[in-house]
This record gives sequence, C-alpha cells and structure tokens, in this order.
Amino acid sequence: MTGKTIVLGISGGIAAYKAATLCSRLVSWGAQVRVIMTDGAARFVTPLTLQTLSRHPVATDVFDERDPSVVQHIDWADAADLVIVAPATANVIGKMAAGIADDMLSTTLLATTAPIVVAPAMNVHMWEHPAVVDNVLKLASRGVRFVEPGTGQLACGYVGKGRLAEPEEIAEAAASLLAGPRLLAGLKIVVTAGGTVERIDPVRYVTNDSSGKMGFALAETAREYGAEVTLICARTDERPPGGVNVVRVESAADMFDEVTKRLGDADVIVKAAAVADYRPLVRHDTKMKKDGETLTVEFVRNPDILQAIGDWKAAHPDGKAPFTIGFAAETGDLEKYAMDKLKRKKCDLIVANDVSLPGAGFGTDTNIASVYAPEGLVESIPLSAKRWVAERIWQLAAERMKQA
Ligand code: PMT
Repeated sequence: MTGKTIVLGISGGIAAYKAATLCSRLVSWGAQVRVIMTDGAARFVTPLTLQTLSRHPVATDVFDERDPSVVQHIDWADAADLVIVAPATANVIGKMAAGIADDMLSTTLLATTAPIVVAPAMNVHMWEHPAVVDNVLKLASRGVRFVEPGTGQLACGYVGKGRLAEPEEIAEAAASLLAGPRLLAGLKIVVTAGGTVERIDPVRYVTNDSSGKMGFALAETAREYGAEVTLICARTDERPPGGVNVVRVESAADMFDEVTKRLGDADVIVKAAAVADYRPLVRHDTKMKKDGETLTVEFVRNPDILQAIGDWKAAHPDGKAPFTIGFAAETGDLEKYAMDKLKRKKCDLIVANDVSLPGAGFGTDTNIASVYAPEGLVESIPLSAKRWVAERIWQLAAERMKQA
C-alpha cells in the first residue's frame, strides 16, 4: 500500500472502535490514511484517537475548511486511491444509494471516482430490512465492494448477522483492490458469454435469460489484468467491453466451432455462456405456417463444449492444455451438481451460482458464487458486482496457475 492514499470513512455505530485497528493496520502497510468521521462516529471514538493512529488531522465537518487553497471534500475525494467505509451504518448506506450528500463523509463519497469498499455493521433486523437489502444491491450493482458483516453476538443483544467484519478482512479486501493489474500478463484467454440462440425458423428461436454481463465482466477484468482476450459472444443486449477481440456467434454449434478451433492456442478458457443443451431437430428455411391447434418441436442434443475441452485435455496430456473455468447455473444442491460437472468436464475450477437467489445469476448486475476446484470448495464469494466476482475468480485462477 506504499504510496497509496486511502480515505477511511467511519460512521456512527458501536463498531467504530474497530476502525481504529483497521486504520492502524492500513498505516502499518504503508498507506496514507485520511480519516473522516460522522458526528455519530465521533460519539463512539474520539477523532484524536484516529488522528494519532493516522498521523493526519481527522475531518468531521464539511464546513471546517482549514486550507483555503482547496475544497477539502473534493481534495480528499480526488486524492483517494480507495475509499473504505467501516463501519457503514444503514443510514450511510442509504445515503450512498440515494446520492445524498449532507456531511463530510457523504459529500466525499459522492465526489470520489475511486473504488469504494463498504463494511456494514448493524442490527440483524436492520441488515435484513428490504430497504437495506435494496440499497446494498443497488450499490453493489454500481461497483461498490462489500465486505459482508459476520454472524454472532451483536452489541444490541441480538445474535445474527450484522457484526462488522474483522479489520484484517477489510484490510485484505482493500489490499486486493489496490493490487497490481498485471496478474494475467502474457496469457491468451478465451471467454464465452451470453445465451445461445437455437433457431426453429428464420423468425423464431429458443434461447435463455443470459445477458452476457458475467462473461463481459470476466473479459474486461482479464484485459485489465494484462491478458489478450477473445470474447466469444452469443445473444446479448449489452455492449461488449473495449480492448478485447469480439467474435459473435448465434448457436451452440457456432460456439463449439469457435471455441474448439482455439484449443492448443488458448492458455485459459472460461465458459460463462449459457449454452442450450438442445436445438430443434429441424430448422425451417422459411417461416412456419400456422397449422393445427398444437405444435410439437422435436429437439436433439447439442454438443457439450466444455465436455469437448475436457476430452481434448485428456487426449493431449503433453499438449498445451488450457486452464478451464466452467460455470454451473443451479437452483439447488449447488455443491453436488457443480462438483459433478467439474469432474465430468475436467475443469480446473467451476463457478457455481444459485440462479434462484435474488441478486444472483441471469440478467443481474451482481452475483453470488461458490468457486470449486477438484479438491472441493475454494471460496464463497458473497453478493458482489459481477465485476468484483470476476476479479476474484481471476485472482483465484492466477494463484492456482502459478502453483501448477
Ligand atoms: O449472462 P448473465 O446474465 O450475466 O448470467 C450469468 C450466468 C448465470 C449465465 C453465468 O453465471 C452462468 O452460470 N453460466 C453458465 C450457464 C450454464 O449453461 O450452466 P450449466 O450448468 O447448464 O452448464 C455448465 C457448464 O457447461 C457451463 O460452463 C456451460 O457454459 C457449459 N456448457 C453447457 C452446455 C453445453 N452444451 N456446452 C457447454 O459448454
């Protein structure tokens, strides 16, 4: 963290005392920490404590402009490489979601373009309140990273989820966000995204709800991490990220061709696309006419692309076997189905998402994922923006490729 400026926002909850440990950890890792405390926070811990630990004056009042050459909240917002809000109360989360700027912390949060990490802490019923759930989802979809609260005895006497994550965990999340961007430099990466389209006739088709957002987030972050990225993209309404080689396909068969022709060249293949398992047996060349009260369309199995990659790897033990990351879209028994797919399709990692959970899976800007390797669960990624899920997947994959 040497040379990095972190703005640490502390809001008014009992867990404010833990922010002192967090501040001290960030400073010991070399960060320049500028602390902002809300009025509520200053009732729980004194600004002097944070001033002593950060070795800088603490800002508590947006109108307390000590340096006439700058506007302090803009100056700090611009200087920040990262902003952390810990603890974040339901109130500050609500203000962030609504774009309210009525004190030093909320104005700085609105003015900054730096990444933001939020570590909430509150009563379990407040954490589960639909208003807070909505606000968290809204912020996560805008790219705010959450370090989820822990479960246990809460200061208010309840037992449940709402306890501020440990300062160490928040500091680690900050460190991983500030980590250098060359994690995947020199690698050729193929990412598939979107939902395949299986045509019945020129105007009718069968598809699924994939928006392409998960695959696009993977492609974009891989490019930012220094990889040369080919994005094989089926149906989507989203604009693909810049700086990647986009190959448009329609059906599972098209995707099969585009992916398999890159075997032997690609270092990593990620199958985030939702590929139709079946296609109509007959594809009519002209628009089908209405005929009769019912219509039966017969379907046949599509090739399984991920399975074909796995088989290719098995047949080429000395070849340039790509590191493969599969996805598993499930609605229950996540681990059982994901591990079965990982083993059958010989993946190095599989990212399982329970698409029945709010904020996860198809179409959303966020996801909730469990990443499995052949030995079992590697990491559970809590509700986060797909971009952040993608970054974490790359960090885990890079670690394992390095070990291999
Ligand atoms: O695109 P979004 O709206 O952002 O949604 C993201 C997502 C839910 C589509 C994504 O997170 C996801 O889960 N993608 C995989 C969807 C899927 O097809 O899962 P599956 O469990 O049916 O397939 C398992 C794996 O085999 C997948 O990696 C899939 O790409 C692959 N597969 C499946 C069938 C087939 N014929 N060929 C394949 O390669």
